[in-house]
Amino acid sequence: MPRKVTINYKKTQKVIKVDEMSDWQDAAELLISKMKPGMVIALHGDLGAGKTTLTQYIAKQLGVSKRALSPTFALIRNYVVKRQRSEASAKECRTSNVERPSYVEATAGRRGTLDVGRLVHVDAYRIEDERELLALDLDEELMEPGTVMIIEWPERVEEWVKKQKELIRVEIEIQ
Ligand SMILES: Nc1ncnc2c1ncn2[C@@H]1O[C@H](COP(=O)(O)OP(=O)(O)O)[C@@H](O)[C@H]1O
Ligand SMILES: [Mg+2]
Repeated sequence: MPRKVTINYKKTQKVIKVDEMSDWQDAAELLISKMKPGMVIALHGDLGAGKTTLTQYIAKQLGVSKRALSPTFALIRNYVVKRQRSEASAKECRTSNVERPSYVEATAGRRGTLDVGRLVHVDAYRIEDERELLALDLDEELMEPGTVMIIEWPERVEEWVKKQKELIRVEIEIQ
């Protein structure tokens, strides 16, 4: 069944139709193009809508080393983004006058994304009281340099999400 993915960022709205699995790539790419450190991406949608699926596509596209499994048991999972290392090696290359590797050129122009070195995936499904959030230290997680956080079931931690300055709100609906 197709999905309608609505992406709200600041005053802009973009709707992407996900008719088949490979269409998730488009949604992932759009989100990645807007990513910057300290950002929260709130994924709204019913059970089975595709929140974890979209997270997996984002993680894959960013080049994280581990697959983004649904963090149902872990509640919170961290991924290191490989591109950050490309950026680091690019800096090394420049200072040592060695030619930059081509994959760095390929991602040039996406400054914001290149600064993203860490993807934190939170599944708030089992949070019943927002006070439980304190134990997760989400503020501290987000302050780690280069971090972008993706939250499934953001309505469970609404107060915390509302406080975020750089927020992308994604609504996934099964059509
Ligand atoms: N466009 C689509 N058409 C059919 N099935 C899809 C489509 N997009 C996702 N799915 C399937 O729907 C399910 C979504 O599950 P999941 O991503 O775990 O949802 P959530 O995290 O929102 O609970 C997966 O089994 C996935 O294969
Ligand atoms: Mg999920």
